[in-house]
Amino acid sequence: MIDKKGFVLENGEELPFVGFGTYLVKEEKIILDALEAGYRHIDTARRYENEKMIGNALKECGIPRRELFLTSKVWKTELGYDKTMRSFEASINDLGVQYLDMFLIHWPMPHPGADWKPLVTESWKALEKLYEEGAVSAIGVCNFLPQHLLHVMKDANTIPMVDQLEFHPGYTQHATTQFCLNHGIQVEAWSPLGRGKLLDDPLILELSKKYGKSPAQICLRFCLQNNILPLPKSSASERMKANLDIFDFDLELEDVYRLMTMPQTGWSGIHPEHFD
Ligand code: A2P
Repeated sequence: MIDKKGFVLENGEELPFVGFGTYLVKEEKIILDALEAGYRHIDTARRYENEKMIGNALKECGIPRRELFLTSKVWKTELGYDKTMRSFEASINDLGVQYLDMFLIHWPMPHPGADWKPLVTESWKALEKLYEEGAVSAIGVCNFLPQHLLHVMKDANTIPMVDQLEFHPGYTQHATTQFCLNHGIQVEAWSPLGRGKLLDDPLILELSKKYGKSPAQICLRFCLQNNILPLPKSSASERMKANLDIFDFDLELEDVYRLMTMPQTGWSGIHPEHFD
């Protein structure tokens, strides 16, 4: 049973077990509803173009800054030291905060075939600098495969603390998640519900019936039992709340493996080395 308050990163930083994904979220009300539902971990990105709106919601909600865990990301066209620094400044300005809890590189490559290594090296130096200065409490990456992580780790003073990946039943990226586990890198799951496409899958429906939990709760619990932090999105209060209500049951090991090994389902089709 998972009964701690949250996942703990290599540097001791603690973050809530479940975060709220904000890709395509444009309405302040959705953020306010998520905070009301109990989310304290909000995941955004420069690319989502919603940081100002989120900043307004944070101002309005009255929750002290120290109780929130805020993540943003630098987009793949902004790799390089100076551009990454400018992206960070723009993010904190729009969010109206003094610091970020976590800052991530969004993708390893600006476009397929790009000479990504020097760009990622320079961006990582910027993230390390921000971390050393205390402008961020944790640094990491998203959509980095082991070959990209190895490149960063080769010269890093601080190795990535987090890798945010597409992860859900039917798409578990075994090579990358195992690499992260072996190197103390916390994995976060984007689209943990496969953008909703998994919710009528026969195996998920079978397990939903067996455990008396919704298909979404089965998918989210599956993340936790793999030590992966899910970032579900929802626009509806009751589903936001249900997506946090995943701490009163355990999937049996046999069922975790069935979900791990089911045929590929719900994959976004996006591969980090082929994403334009
Ligand atoms: P909605 O906004 O109407 O709740 P993912 O996080 O994997 O990208 O999936 C997001 C999609 O899953 C959204 O379309 C969202 O729709 C839907 N969703 C989120 N939570 C639930 C839930 N508990 N039950 C059913 N659908 C959900």
